[in-house]
Amino acid sequence: MISPRFLRSMPLLASLLVVLLVGPGRAAPSARAADVEARLDALIARMTLEEKIGQLHLAPNNPGFDMGEVRAGHVGGVLAFTGARSVAAVQQAARESRLGIPLLVGLDVLHGLRTMFPLGLGEAASFDPDLARRAAEAAAREAVALGFNWTFAPMADLSRDPRWGRIIEGFGEDTHLGEVLTRARVEGFRAGGLAATLKHFAGYGAAQGGRDYDAAEISVRDLLDSYLPPFRAGLSAGAESVMSAFHSLNGVPASASHMLLTGILRERWSWDGFVVSDWAAIEQLVDHGVAADHAGAAVRALAAGIDMDMASGLYRRHLAPAVRAGLVPEAAVTEAARRVIRAKLRMGLFEQPLPVGATDDVPPPTEAARALSRQLARDTMVLLRNDGTLPLTGRAGTRIALVGGLAGGAADLVGPHAALVRHEDGVSVRQGLEARAARAGATVAFAPGCDALCASTEGFAAAVEAARAADVVVAVLGESQDFSGEGGSRAYLTLPGQQPELLRRLVETGKPVVLVLVAGRPIELGPVVDRLGALVMAWFPGTEGGHAAADILFGDAEPSAKLPLSWPRTVGQVPLVYDRAPTGRPAQPGNRYTLRYVDEEVTPLFRFGFGLGYTTFALAGLDLGEARIPRSGTVEIGVELANTGTRPGREVVQLYVRQPVASSTRPLRQLKAFEKVALAPGERRRVTLRVPAAELGFHREDGSYVVEPGPREVFVGTSSEAALSGRVEITD
Ligand code: BGC
Repeated sequence: MISPRFLRSMPLLASLLVVLLVGPGRAAPSARAADVEARLDALIARMTLEEKIGQLHLAPNNPGFDMGEVRAGHVGGVLAFTGARSVAAVQQAARESRLGIPLLVGLDVLHGLRTMFPLGLGEAASFDPDLARRAAEAAAREAVALGFNWTFAPMADLSRDPRWGRIIEGFGEDTHLGEVLTRARVEGFRAGGLAATLKHFAGYGAAQGGRDYDAAEISVRDLLDSYLPPFRAGLSAGAESVMSAFHSLNGVPASASHMLLTGILRERWSWDGFVVSDWAAIEQLVDHGVAADHAGAAVRALAAGIDMDMASGLYRRHLAPAVRAGLVPEAAVTEAARRVIRAKLRMGLFEQPLPVGATDDVPPPTEAARALSRQLARDTMVLLRNDGTLPLTGRAGTRIALVGGLAGGAADLVGPHAALVRHEDGVSVRQGLEARAARAGATVAFAPGCDALCASTEGFAAAVEAARAADVVVAVLGESQDFSGEGGSRAYLTLPGQQPELLRRLVETGKPVVLVLVAGRPIELGPVVDRLGALVMAWFPGTEGGHAAADILFGDAEPSAKLPLSWPRTVGQVPLVYDRAPTGRPAQPGNRYTLRYVDEEVTPLFRFGFGLGYTTFALAGLDLGEARIPRSGTVEIGVELANTGTRPGREVVQLYVRQPVASSTRPLRQLKAFEKVALAPGERRRVTLRVPAAELGFHREDGSYVVEPGPREVFVGTSSEAALSGRVEITD
């Protein structure tokens, strides 16, 4: 028999021997898992209480950061370091500690490190998990090159409230889309060498009034059916950690919730990764009123299931005295330390050579990273309206007036949470459009009208004059990046400042106006929307945003994105989602006593899943496959997609399902599968969409999951309005 100790000391030989002895495939990973546990046991057995608590301390690189603490083995991870040299120095200090346990080095690498990709909501609009995976991998590679090994991403929070600034970081209102994108991004980060963190556990996107940090109330059913599945998908893709949220959920702060952090993560899902708190969230338990003081907050957080304390320093200060006073069993500290070190072992940190970093300069974006960012950006831009103004012909002599406070700069195109961005890397819409127009022999007259905040109308006359002298107006309006992201809640969804007036004046010129919206959320546009030549939602498109916008406007790339949320007509409709429950009184025109507003339509302005291209598609020939499907089976729906236009394009075929009769009310329809298909003009293709019947159930209020036998209506289409329909039967 081969000694496990011998195998541990010879990792390469060990894996070869395991393959030779047990054959390739399934046995090898479990052998590695056993190896990790054995190394973990050996390490933990050598650790003092102080050293174990050190592993639970995640220290920010703030003024006063103490390298001595790292050398003493009192720090398990660090965050907010900004370059290879300082990362290498802090890892070196950890290596010099008694046990030499390497540090987790974390950063918010959400949508790039220095090369910026579109944020999550834009990625969701691409309906293309492969692209999202590649972007996450590219971001990870940039970060890993500097010595980072852990990202605080992806954000798996479902949100139905565009007032909430962080809606831009996530994947919108739909659970299935959230699952697919969360999984893809975790896979991408891990492929690039970064451990992933799913945040913010859980229900953070349901903050009342869309106010960041405010409490949320979510029923058990809704939590289990809608908010948690993206997290579960991310865990099954291998996310190493989960971040607890700031807010209070159903009366208990998420960072003190045993139900969430232990009951669901560890007991229900049998997950053995580690939980990190959000920034100082443990300290804030005192403000939440569930702990009398800092010591009490530390005790409560550990008991709930938080393993690592981000930035508050309370574990470091209070856990050892609490253990000595008998308030916390040492076993709880040991278990938390085990989870953190287990992740480090699984990540291979102990085997990694020390990072080298001669400088803290961050290398500029490579051509490959730029190309990927540009491709992703144009695939996230949703064409919401077009009367034929787009694509711009690119004819020599075409005069374009470029207006808007967001047209001239690149900084706001990047959006919030921009890691180690350098704004000089970015391409503005002006630069992108001017470069493309020059190639076509077209001209661009730039007259911004105002700056991004648009407080003054002083420049409007010049902008209107430029519009009058042009063949077409491109207006780049929307939100500067600080209107979104953390702390970016809004009470209005309108264009900030005087931008609505600028847009009105441009439209009044009678020239076709293409509105390019740069924003972290849907914007309330009012009646002017019907007078636009075209409307493109660009989100925050990233480093190559200006080129990507030009690609779309000139038709060098075909728009193919779809809305990952319902676009309200006005903020008063929020929350407004496509997968709503039925009512006994559905909307009926002219009938007051049905679901409606007296002063506004009840429908969204643009539906979930909607987005145009420059070609047209038709769906026909719905094939429902087997009429009766057992609960262990798979629903397989076929349909034929045809490109009926004259340009190539990509269409997202979407499958929605409804259970028309159930023991509880079920949503009117829910997205269950989709596929993005590229077709040449005149080409047609059969598309098959599959849904395991096991995914056609729901949770009951007692937390149990049931797939009830009976009929399911299926709807297939190219938006949530999907009109092709049929029925299948789920059997016992
Ligand atoms: C945010 C997290 C982020 C953390 C570290 C917090 O304020 O809520 O999303 O990962 O800061 O930067």
